[in-house]
Amino acid sequence: MSGRIGSVQYESPFMLAPLAGVSDSPFRQLAREQGAAMVFTEMVSADGLARGNQATLDYCAFEPGERPIGIQLFGSDPGVMAEATRVLNDLPNERRPDLIDINMGCPVRKVVNRSAGAALLTNVPQIREIVSRMSGASRIPVTAKIRLGWDGNSRNVVDVAKALEDSGAEAVAIHARTRAEKFEGEAHWEMIGEAKRAVGIPVIGNGDVRAPEDAIRMIELTGCDAVMLGRAAFGDPWVFRRVRAFHERGEELAPPSAAERLAAGIRHLAMMTAAVGADSAAREMRKHVAWYVKGLPRSAKVREQVNRTGSVDEMANLLRDYLTDLEEHGLDAFAPEPSAAALGGLRASG
Ligand SMILES: Cc1cc2nc3c(=O)[nH]c(=O)nc-3n(C[C@H](O)[C@H](O)[C@H](O)COP(=O)(O)O)c2cc1C
Repeated sequence: MSGRIGSVQYESPFMLAPLAGVSDSPFRQLAREQGAAMVFTEMVSADGLARGNQATLDYCAFEPGERPIGIQLFGSDPGVMAEATRVLNDLPNERRPDLIDINMGCPVRKVVNRSAGAALLTNVPQIREIVSRMSGASRIPVTAKIRLGWDGNSRNVVDVAKALEDSGAEAVAIHARTRAEKFEGEAHWEMIGEAKRAVGIPVIGNGDVRAPEDAIRMIELTGCDAVMLGRAAFGDPWVFRRVRAFHERGEELAPPSAAERLAAGIRHLAMMTAAVGADSAAREMRKHVAWYVKGLPRSAKVREQVNRTGSVDEMANLLRDYLTDLEEHGLDAFAPEPSAAALGGLRASG
């Protein structure tokens, strides 16, 4: 089931969400390899781009294999957002993204205090101004990622979706929570359906899709055109392969093996080192490595060792040794060691 956002084609409806600190270029490549139909960068400061800040521009770098890719901007000033849009449009072909997405959902104080992220949802005229100026300045589609509203008393997702469409946005992604809900409680998928019925542009549903069945259920329940996965992909880019197999063929693929996960971790380390240099890579990779080993036998120890080192080479060696151990001894040999409390209990009862 393919689709399109403006002129941009996507081959299946499952996309990688923009994730600050997580959807880095190597991770986006891994997600695309496993079947994510489109990927989004971490949010990037429109202000930084408009000022020509090199570090901000570096954030916008991607590899050809990541396409189609959206760069997500955060900001609040329509003039600055339009200028950042021009900067991205003026990049040489190979560095120009396929889409520009606007962050209208970030709940963190540092962002909303500057009237950006989810704060924009409280100011629909401002949304109109931002989107019209950005789409006027762009040859590539402009999209927005929103929440249901600011809080339970102001769920204006339908109005916002209509305003986005009127002002030239070519798709809207909806995280089905309010700003007040942050990431808590259950996402309210039915409101994605309400927005879908109110607009003609593609609607991308988002929030709490953890497994292939969830993705299919979200499409059936809401009629949304595509689904964006965030946390389910942490340490598990294969989730896209599983979702697609289930959607396309009703096939339930097994989760990745320990060997596959550790090999991906080692590769991610190398790709990150190539992308940002060894020092930054060591910092950036701790969380990814922790997710790749999560749930594997004795992973707590490896995680602890990885957290203690500042060297990517040592991290890779730790993962290689761990992989060799798992291969030599099999998973069973690594059954979690009994906790001190359990041993104490045994001693007391024995
Ligand atoms: C660590 C983290 C970073 C995030 N960064 C962004 C971001 O930069 N831009 C954005 O629009 N949403 C961001 N989000 C929200 C996600 O894109 C997504 O809307 C949310 O996690 C709900 O989807 P999920 O249940 O599939 O994770 C972030 C979420 C998390 C957990």
